This record gives sequence, C-alpha cells and structure tokens, in this order.
Amino acid sequence: MGVNPDVISVLIVDDIAETRENIRRLLQFEKGVEIVGSVGSGREAVALAERVRPDVVIMDINMPDMDGITATELVREKVPYAQVVILTVQDDPNYMRRAMLAGARDFLAKPPTIDELTAAVRRAGQFAHQEKERLGSAGQVAMPGGGAAGGGTGMLATGKVITFFSGKGGLGKTTLAVNLAMALQSPDTPVVIVDGNLQFGDVVLLLNEHGRHNILDLAPRADALDPDVVESVLITYQDTALKVLAAPTTFEEANQISGEQFGQLITFLKTMFEYVIVDTSSALDEITLAALDASDLVVALVAQDIPSIKDARVFLNWLRGAGVPDEHIFLVMNRYDKRIGITPERVGDSFRHPVALAIPDDFRHILPAINKGTPVLRLSRSAPIARSIVKMAELVRRRLTELETAELSD
Ligand SMILES: Nc1ncnc2c1ncn2[C@@H]1O[C@H](COP(=O)(O)OP(=O)(O)OP(=O)(O)O)[C@@H](O)[C@H]1O
Ligand SMILES: [Mg+2]
Repeated sequence: MGVNPDVISVLIVDDIAETRENIRRLLQFEKGVEIVGSVGSGREAVALAERVRPDVVIMDINMPDMDGITATELVREKVPYAQVVILTVQDDPNYMRRAMLAGARDFLAKPPTIDELTAAVRRAGQFAHQEKERLGSAGQVAMPGGGAAGGGTGMLATGKVITFFSGKGGLGKTTLAVNLAMALQSPDTPVVIVDGNLQFGDVVLLLNEHGRHNILDLAPRADALDPDVVESVLITYQDTALKVLAAPTTFEEANQISGEQFGQLITFLKTMFEYVIVDTSSALDEITLAALDASDLVVALVAQDIPSIKDARVFLNWLRGAGVPDEHIFLVMNRYDKRIGITPERVGDSFRHPVALAIPDDFRHILPAINKGTPVLRLSRSAPIARSIVKMAELVRRRLTELETAELSD
C-alpha cells in the first residue's frame, strides 16, 4: 500500500461504480502506479485518505453526501502532500476556481482518455513525492515561507522580468508593455504579459482577446504551481508566442489576490518564459511592490509635463532608497513632442538618471490600433511609435544581457 517510495499511490473517488471501474481499468497496468482505494462518496474519501495516505486522489465533483470540492479541501488538510485531480463534466470556470481554492491540482474532463489520465496521475504523483520530501516524513509541517514558487518543479528560473510603472496614470504603461511584449516574442522566444493592474486591467482589451480564466485561477495555489495548469489559464495571442495572464474582472476578485501570491506567480512564470512583462496600476501597492521586487528591469515612464516629472522623481528616489541599482532602471519618456522645451536630456540631468529612450507622441497611429485591439507594432510597423518600440526592445535586450554579464563576472 504505497510503501515503495517511488510508486504513485492512487485513490479513486466517484459515486458511480462504473466510472470507478473504468478508471481502475485504465490505470491497472500502469507501471509504478498502484490503486490503494476506490470509494463512492466524499465522506468515505476523506476517511480512507487519512488511513492510506495516497499520493494522488482522482475526485469526482458531484457526489451525494459530500461534494468533491469540500472533500478536496478536507483531504488536503489531512494529507497535505496528496494531490487531487478533479474529474468533471462541469466545463465551468467557476468550478475550476472553487476547486483550485480548495487545493485541487489538475482537472480532467470525463471520460478521460488513457493518455490524459496517466499523464495527469504521473504529474500529480511526481509533485506529491516532491511535496512529501519537502514537508518531511511526517508530511505535516510546512516549510517557513512555503518555499519558493517553482521550487517543486525542479526547473531553473531563467526568464527576465520587466515591470512597467508610472506614478501618474495614463502615461502609456499598458500600451508600451503590450507592444514591447510583441516586439520581444518570436517562435523561439516565449513571452508572457501579466496584467498587474488587477482592478482596471486592460491588457486583454488592447489585444482584443478574451479568455475564460484569469490570474485568480492561479493565485490561491501560487506556492505550488504546475506548468500545465498555468498554461490552461493563459491566453495565447493569435498566432504568436505571446501569452497573457489576464486580470480579474471584478473588484471583489481583484482584492482576493495578495502581493505574496503575485510575486510567487511571477517567479514561477520565469521558469516558463524568456520574458515576463508586468503591467501595473499607478499605485505602489502590494501587487506593484511584489512585481518590482521580482524584476530584473523596471521601466519607469515620464512625460513632458510637470506632474508626471514630479511623480517620476518620487518613484526614482524611492527605488534608489529601496536599493535598486540605477542599471536596473530604464527610464522612458513617452509621448515625446520635440516642440516642447522639456527635453529628455534636461529631464535626465535633473534626475541624475538618463532617459534611455524617448518615444514620440503618435496618436495618429495609436488610435486605430487601440480601436481595433491590435498592437500598433502589428498594425503599422513603419509608424514612428512602432519603430521606437522596436528600438526599445533592442535596448532592453542589450541592457538585460549587460546586467547578466555583470552578475556572472561578480
Ligand atoms: N506614444 C504615444 N503616442 C500617442 N498616444 C499614446 C502613446 N502612448 C500611449 N498613448 C495613449 O495614451 C493613453 C493612455 O495609455 P495607456 O492606457 O497605455 O496608459 P497607462 O499608463 O497604462 O494608463 P493607466 O494608468 O490608466 O493604466 C491611451 O489612449 C494610449 O493610446
Ligand atoms: Mg494601464
């Protein structure tokens, strides 16, 4: 009964005997997988899980005495390393969210194929074994801080995080973040843009995309993510290598996400993407702070008006005070109009931090792009703003390479 540490022990829970039997049949000849129990109700599942301490529980949702979501929560309480794979006919994102909140690891549509089932059991089993090790033999004690996100996957975090911020709203954070993400992605370079403007996020709008899932589907399990689950929540932008992690759609949802979870998510995305671009709100709240903390490069925006210059100064001073080295700050003047006397040079001098790039005011090309929901880089590649963004991508890439080289030689 799961005594061999390499064997994945599985408990099957479904109120329909035929379903249980089908799953048993699909798994019975799987090497390294052992079925340690099969029960017909949530209540029995919790009781048996406590006794047999399975690695993986395959759990139905609709059951008469206790539903699968409640059972998941209780099983995870009793056996913290056990990983629950939900088996469901409910193709409803709310179910997915509730199940994830309860601690489920994965989902399978009924009836699963043998490949889907074995792949899910192996993934969950591997994770359970890692968790068992991490939690110690008792399987009860959590590590201080919960361990780093992505730590359980055994993958190396190599991606670079680029966060956009301006204290003043409406300076072009989202516009530039989305277009930079487009400029950086290529078939060999996967890029994800995370909408960290949780309350008023509009990244999906600028891309004319909509998905069924958003960041709240991942946040509750941010300390124990799995690339497949993350993939299932991301939205792919058309035919590109750009993915989007959308913001929630209501305030209530936005407010459920903590800075700690946001930071863990970003750290995990570094294991999957070459560049993680974070768009923020104009507040230095716990979400923005978590993003800045995880960033390799902070793109700070300024315009040619005094309030935005004041806000940029406050932000730069704050970054310096927080110990962020100047090389990690990429100052951009957006909506630059050369007829205005406040030049990038003057602003750079007064900040004692150079403006790395001035992006021209190009409303003529931006407006149709916004109204179509297509990044201007795609719509009008030769527009002045598009050319500036290509330049920005070049400079950002170069800066990140320099930073990496400097780190390696330290
Ligand atoms: N270089 C530019 N030229 C002309 N218009 C621009 C430029 N950059 C941004 N804009 C326009 O400025 C407006 C605000 O841009 P955006 O929404 O990207 O700003 P933001 O900083 O993300 O705002 P918020 O703080 O509300 O999130 C948009 O209408 C956008 O089209
Ligand atoms: Mg914005």
